[in-house]
Amino acid sequence: MPLTTLVARADGRLIGDAAAAGTTVTGATLRAQDVRQGDLFAALPGARAHGADFAQEALAAGAAAVLTDPDGVERPSLLDADVPILVHPDPRGVLGEVAAWIYGEPSLHLAVLGITGTSGKTTTAYLVESGLAEAGKTTGLVGTVETRIAGERLASAFTTPEAPDLQALFAVMLEQGVTHVPMEVSSHALSLGRVNGTRFSVGAFTNLSQDHLDFHRDMAEYFATKSILFDGRSTTEVVIIDSAWGQALLAPHTITVALDEGTGAEWTASDITSTPTGEQAFVLRGPGDVAISTKLPLPGEFNVANALLAAAILDACGVEPAQIAAGLASVRVPGRMERVNQGQEFTAVVDYAHKPAAVALALDALRAQTTGKVITVLGCGGDRDTGKRPLMGEAAVRRSDVLIVTDDNPRSEDAAAIRASMLAGARAVGAVHGGEVLEIADRGEAIRHAVSLAVPGDTVFIAGKGHETGQDVGGVKHPFSDRDELAAALRIHVEGGTR
Ligand SMILES: Nc1ncnc2c1ncn2[C@@H]1O[C@H](COP(=O)(O)OP(=O)(O)OP(=O)(O)O)[C@@H](O)[C@H]1O
Ligand SMILES: [Mg+2]
Repeated sequence: MPLTTLVARADGRLIGDAAAAGTTVTGATLRAQDVRQGDLFAALPGARAHGADFAQEALAAGAAAVLTDPDGVERPSLLDADVPILVHPDPRGVLGEVAAWIYGEPSLHLAVLGITGTSGKTTTAYLVESGLAEAGKTTGLVGTVETRIAGERLASAFTTPEAPDLQALFAVMLEQGVTHVPMEVSSHALSLGRVNGTRFSVGAFTNLSQDHLDFHRDMAEYFATKSILFDGRSTTEVVIIDSAWGQALLAPHTITVALDEGTGAEWTASDITSTPTGEQAFVLRGPGDVAISTKLPLPGEFNVANALLAAAILDACGVEPAQIAAGLASVRVPGRMERVNQGQEFTAVVDYAHKPAAVALALDALRAQTTGKVITVLGCGGDRDTGKRPLMGEAAVRRSDVLIVTDDNPRSEDAAAIRASMLAGARAVGAVHGGEVLEIADRGEAIRHAVSLAVPGDTVFIAGKGHETGQDVGGVKHPFSDRDELAAALRIHVEGGTR
């Protein structure tokens, strides 16, 4: 794209007209070390440094132009630089659109399905992807666990990438024949403008709870950030209205979803049942007499809500009810209330919950569907919030018949001290509530012990690491998968005839 066109469209000011005259930009990035020949280098103000301080590195790598703010222009590294500069008072705010223009506005040619909310984004994105696959669509996926382009897998650094990376990703998806992109949209991404320049076919809202309040001032501001997805940038809006936050997003055109049929939502579920191994079944009810018996391989009632939201999103994409049901039934969500089944007669689940409230919520959901004991394996990560450790222990022991405190990723910390902190929280209530508390440092051994205690009707819950494939001890990442360890333990259990 000719730089002068960008300057005009962005309503910015240009420094270095002569150099700009023949300049075209072929890409964009905001990391100097990632600049390639012809890129626009976005030199943004940051909390610690100004991107403009890295301009020399970007120019050496072949940056064709720089986007920055008036402060950036004054930085020594840019003052005498021989490069055209697009100056804008809010370069971060405008970067999304600028990147979209450079990459040919790919989201106009894709159905981008944005999902926001405190929890359930990853799960819903996978449910949607599964339904699209049933309908024969070629899909992309953007989220916490991974990024996928038509079946090819890339690791994800952030839940939502930076704007230039996102637009480039969409452009590649389009080249690869992708038509639909379920995408997690975090509140960070919304407030930092990472999805500016993205046209959403569908914007969807799960729920809102106290989380990320380290980043947002209060719930009202957190909600205001989430509602950016519903400011007109989404063609269709789909909202779970079980909560007051969801209700607050209601507009005449909103497609409504709720577990609670009393809300009068268009998409609801009835006849929810669960099996001893944690599968659920329900009747999916939608507009125009849609009523279809559906199986869901995920435990926990909140996953029925996620499934309803996915169904409404899929319906908005024109996917048939039978294909929606088939998609929900065949989903696999890595490490999010993920059932592991080796023929045992109890529920065994791996989950990513690693905060007190998340542990409580997941255990409450499992407890409601468990006739026998709930056996929990949980640890806390090192080099992270130390205050939550006793609270995690407390939340888990209150809801478990047996809690096994074990190691998570100790990182640079003393693993025994992390466990001691959790145990202190757990034991403080343990005596009152009768929950049995054990300490088994080795995570694999803790998982095997949990399985050895289980009988039909029980639930074994392995929490904290979810889809992770390594355990970080002292900066060294050892291969470790909760899912694989649990599967191996279950196989031995079943083969030993003690199912
Ligand atoms: N609808 C829901 N309501 C409440 N809790 C949920 C819901 N869906 C999932 N959870 C719980 O929250 C955890 C995270 O789910 P998921 O990964 O789908 O959410 P997310 O919004 O992508 O989270 P993150 O912000 O970490 O990316 C799950 O492991 C589960 O315990
Ligand atoms: Mg996620």
